[in-house]
Amino acid sequence: MWLEILFWSLVVFIFVFGFIYIVIGIGGFWFGIPFIPSNKKVVQKMLEMADLDSTDRVVELGCGDGRLVFDSADISKESVGCEGVFVVALWARLLQKMGKKKGTIRCINFYKEDLSRFDVVFVYLSDEIMRTLYEKKWDEFKPGCRIISNTFKFPMDQVLPESEVMEGKYKLRRYVR
Ligand SMILES: C[S@@+](CC[C@H](N)C(=O)[O-])C[C@H]1O[C@@H](n2cnc3c(N)ncnc32)[C@H](O)[C@@H]1O
Repeated sequence: MWLEILFWSLVVFIFVFGFIYIVIGIGGFWFGIPFIPSNKKVVQKMLEMADLDSTDRVVELGCGDGRLVFDSADISKESVGCEGVFVVALWARLLQKMGKKKGTIRCINFYKEDLSRFDVVFVYLSDEIMRTLYEKKWDEFKPGCRIISNTFKFPMDQVLPESEVMEGKYKLRRYVR
């Protein structure tokens, strides 16, 4: 009896952690960065740096579980999160439903999204992805658009941040197009 319970507990444990491991790994494998959530203090500081108001349209590129999208939605006119890993996007939508949060989670590769209407862009990606993002999307950003990046930077030979702030061990940067 106890052996059976132990066996099935082990099976469930392996299944759950295997699933989480795969979900986290897919982003890393497919997009070059896995799902790593920003902590609460970082989210708060990024919102402060964006200086959001009720007229702003906001997008988060690679929104993970949507925490920044949902918080932005309370302050802004529109808040959209783009997440390329289906299961992560699904998780974000589930959290949204359960928490009755505002905002839109789109399961999409963000390079395919038209970013020209947004006033604020949030990112937590990698230096390599920031370079590609700069090459593919910088000109598409609305003039005056504020881009707030957790940790990673656009190529320094192309554009410098307007400001940099430390939040714990994380350096946050604000760019203006
Ligand atoms: C480091 S996590 C950050 C999650 C969230 N932004 C946060 O700060 O909590 C990066 C996320 O970006 C997603 N991602 C990376 N490249 C992407 C792309 N081209 N299109 C859509 N999502 C992408 C990954 O799947 C991953 O969930």
